[in-house]
Amino acid sequence: MDLRAGRFDGQMTDDAAKFSSSIEFDRRLFEADIKCNRAHTTMLMEEEIIPEQSAKKILKALDKLEQEGIGALDMNPSFEDIHMALEDYITKEIGPEAGFMHTAKSRNDQVCTDVRIALKDEINNTIHGIKSFIQTIVDMAKENTDTLFIAYTHLQHAQPNTFAHHLMAYANELRRDCERFQDTYKRVDMSPLGSAALTTTGFPINRDRTAQLLDFSQVMDNSIDGVSSRDFAAEAIFDYAMLSTTLGKIADEIVIWSSYEFRMVECSNQYSSTSSIMPQKKNPDIAELARGKSTISYGELMTVLSMIKGIPHSYNRDLQEVSPHLWNAIDNTNDILSIVHGMLSTITINKERTEELAGANFATATELADVMVREKQLPFRTAHKIVGRIVSQAIEDGITTNDIDDDYVNKISEEVTGQPISLGEELVSQALNPLKNVKSRTVKGGCAPSAVNEAIKNMEDFLNE
Ligand code: ARG
Repeated sequence: MDLRAGRFDGQMTDDAAKFSSSIEFDRRLFEADIKCNRAHTTMLMEEEIIPEQSAKKILKALDKLEQEGIGALDMNPSFEDIHMALEDYITKEIGPEAGFMHTAKSRNDQVCTDVRIALKDEINNTIHGIKSFIQTIVDMAKENTDTLFIAYTHLQHAQPNTFAHHLMAYANELRRDCERFQDTYKRVDMSPLGSAALTTTGFPINRDRTAQLLDFSQVMDNSIDGVSSRDFAAEAIFDYAMLSTTLGKIADEIVIWSSYEFRMVECSNQYSSTSSIMPQKKNPDIAELARGKSTISYGELMTVLSMIKGIPHSYNRDLQEVSPHLWNAIDNTNDILSIVHGMLSTITINKERTEELAGANFATATELADVMVREKQLPFRTAHKIVGRIVSQAIEDGITTNDIDDDYVNKISEEVTGQPISLGEELVSQALNPLKNVKSRTVKGGCAPSAVNEAIKNMEDFLNE
């Protein structure tokens, strides 16, 4: 039986039916649609809006469908969507009484209720995935609070760092990604069910009850808004896009650090491949693809924003097209999340190399200038000038940081200010020592092991919340 045969009798062309069917991407809504119908039917029965006997038959058939799984549905694209396929199943099971299920309910409120139910699960799942990645990062950081590393600005040597401190930057970015999802969840967790087609219904339905049965924490206050809003989906896609950005940046650094020129880390074989022509090659393909695929959710975000822009209230069929883009952003980002998690947790750090880099290329110069300010009350700009001159002279003389001693510093200081700065051998060598540099940065948020341990503790508090 065509379920809506009253007005039109299957006159749509096959093309048009296929073009307008959402049944393929509605697969994601199978469980949510059963829950939604179950809650609505239960409420109709409790409020004595439909006969108890019919309601019980409907509920039993819904249970049976749940047992049998989606394979029991006729997913023919001539059904516009999963809601029609499900109703068709119940009708085949119990006959025309199935029609009571659709009292005071439209597919317009049903579909956005389903999407919200399914999205809540997805968000919880992603939050769980992010937290487990953060836990891995925290564990790695704990092992590396003393591991010297080099920090860059403009991708040029900047200052000595620790590997732990760099890792904890990842953890903090991911924490914000996670909190963004937690916040979005509140706006997804609102029930539009009972909005019906757009202005609710004359039946005395109980929207609080269906919201409660479906585990929504609140009921949407306006039925027009209920069926027409998809900002919750756009917001969730933004969160996935932002998470993709964090993950893409991590992947990008793995690509750079694992190159021969950097040699700071090595990707495990499990996440590498070789070349079909160059037998020596170890390529970070997985990291590159994580970086490349991180852009997919940006496209989905732009698509959905454009789709919901400038359409009139309330339900428009355009809205059907939001869902596949939402699911694609979710799946793509979840894939990146688990792959980057696995990849980062299996990299090996080349400590000899990172230690070498931390002391190379005058990365400790800032500290030398700071010591002049601290110990000799020199204005920072003057100190900056002296050390700048020291570095350019050292480059000209072809010497490295290790060769710079008190005499060298005094000579240049005299040239710049007219007098030696007289720091003494001890202070000069301490200032130029990368480990000492790192250990002196004990301020909140700093790279000293004590400060990083504090940051790790804060992160663990968040994870245990
Ligand atoms: N398949 C539709 C969607 O995903 C369900 C609502 C259809 N409503 C309608 N009036 N045709 O949005």
